[in-house]
Amino acid sequence: MQTVASIQKTFKILKPQEKWSFRDAGRSQTTAFTHAYHRYPAKFIPQIVRKLIEDYAPDNTQVVCDPFGGCGTTLVEAKLLGHKSIGFDINPVAKLITQTKTVPIRPRTLVNNRNKFLKYYETTTPHFSNRHERISYWFDEETVHELDRIYFAIKKIKEYNTRRFFLCAFSHNLKNCSRWLMKSIKPTIDKNKVIPNPLKSFLRHLDLMIKKNEQFYSKLVESGYEKVSAKMYRRDSTKKLPLNSSFIDLIITSPPYVTSYEYADLHQLSLLWFGDDPKHFKKWNRFSDEFIDFRRNFIGTRSKKEKSGDFDSVIAKMIVNDLFQVKRPLAIDVANYFLDMKKVFGEMHRILKPGGKACIIIGNTNLRGVEISNAQVVAEQMQQASFKKVEFIKREIQNKMITPWRDSETGKFTGKDNHSKIRAYEFEYVVVMEKY
Ligand SMILES: C[S@@+](CC[C@H](N)C(=O)[O-])C[C@H]1O[C@@H](n2cnc3c(N)ncnc32)[C@H](O)[C@@H]1O
Repeated sequence: MQTVASIQKTFKILKPQEKWSFRDAGRSQTTAFTHAYHRYPAKFIPQIVRKLIEDYAPDNTQVVCDPFGGCGTTLVEAKLLGHKSIGFDINPVAKLITQTKTVPIRPRTLVNNRNKFLKYYETTTPHFSNRHERISYWFDEETVHELDRIYFAIKKIKEYNTRRFFLCAFSHNLKNCSRWLMKSIKPTIDKNKVIPNPLKSFLRHLDLMIKKNEQFYSKLVESGYEKVSAKMYRRDSTKKLPLNSSFIDLIITSPPYVTSYEYADLHQLSLLWFGDDPKHFKKWNRFSDEFIDFRRNFIGTRSKKEKSGDFDSVIAKMIVNDLFQVKRPLAIDVANYFLDMKKVFGEMHRILKPGGKACIIIGNTNLRGVEISNAQVVAEQMQQASFKKVEFIKREIQNKMITPWRDSETGKFTGKDNHSKIRAYEFEYVVVMEKY
């Protein structure tokens, strides 16, 4: 077992590894296959997942799991390499996207249904329901009517996977058609936004997805992996997962960042829209009507009730103590985050086979002048949960933006003269540990 001092020293002298930077991976590679179906904050690039699977589970009888599955990057890559995979995420939007992204559809089926959809769109008169009051905050009335027409036409599609495919395109398009400030990671109104025609913008994205599905479908048929199972569940990963002990061979995951992205807020347009239709989206009304409660269960979210417990990490304790000197509510948020993550590591240990590896992709940050050494805390907490070190990798994040700064209010990229700027992450770590 590494001592705390030794963990800190190892990270201090760690140099970024060129082979993990994927400098040459252009947009066409990072958005290949189904990866571009839906925007999702803090998704990792598929190249990292692919390399980790190739390095740590080269035999495709090995099962891969992602307990923070997000929009399904791990599951899509696992399927392309012929591995069974299982993902969990607390966010129902993540489940919708991942299920859509991992199911290849015969290309002709999609083209036929696109034509049918257009006919339904022309002929359907939607029965407008009273929408959630927040909908009129985000959309103008005319847009809501247009979106309703599209939505009703989609629901006439009979085949389940195809209908979900169209709904995924619809969900992605909601942000484009709303007053939401594009590229902002916080829910902010853009007063000057020119709202596009909902149908045109929906079809543009749908056509892109149809093209990407064709790529995915052909690749899987060619390799004989189209039936390889990829299962995604909506679950809170701090609780017991519905898997037998010692079932999984490899975990690849990027946990939520502390106080950085509010996933529930960011997906509120889809949550509100689908939540108003409990007939088709069973239980989604719980996520929109009881939004505050739902939001509280996300790891890393702000203003949760203070929890108590041992972090199983000396480094975490030092960070939280330092934050208490600066800002008490922030210290509580970070403390809750470390306590939640400790629970997830315990569960990861239970579901992994002995000798199985867990790869955690995580970045460090700085809050109010206090260094939040997440990667070091992960290493320490995992050791306490009976994992041993395999390797720690430092990688440079290929930030193609011209500025490394973000506005702390809107989350938008900003210039260096902005007083409320915060630095976007430059490096991240892959902490690879083994169950013993
Ligand atoms: C950094 S993102 C993962 C992104 C993913 N790697 C991808 O490529 O799409 C972290 C995810 O953790 C999820 N999450 C937050 N709290 C959770 C919890 N308690 N249980 C399960 N998932 C949770 C969020 O919804 C989010 O999708």
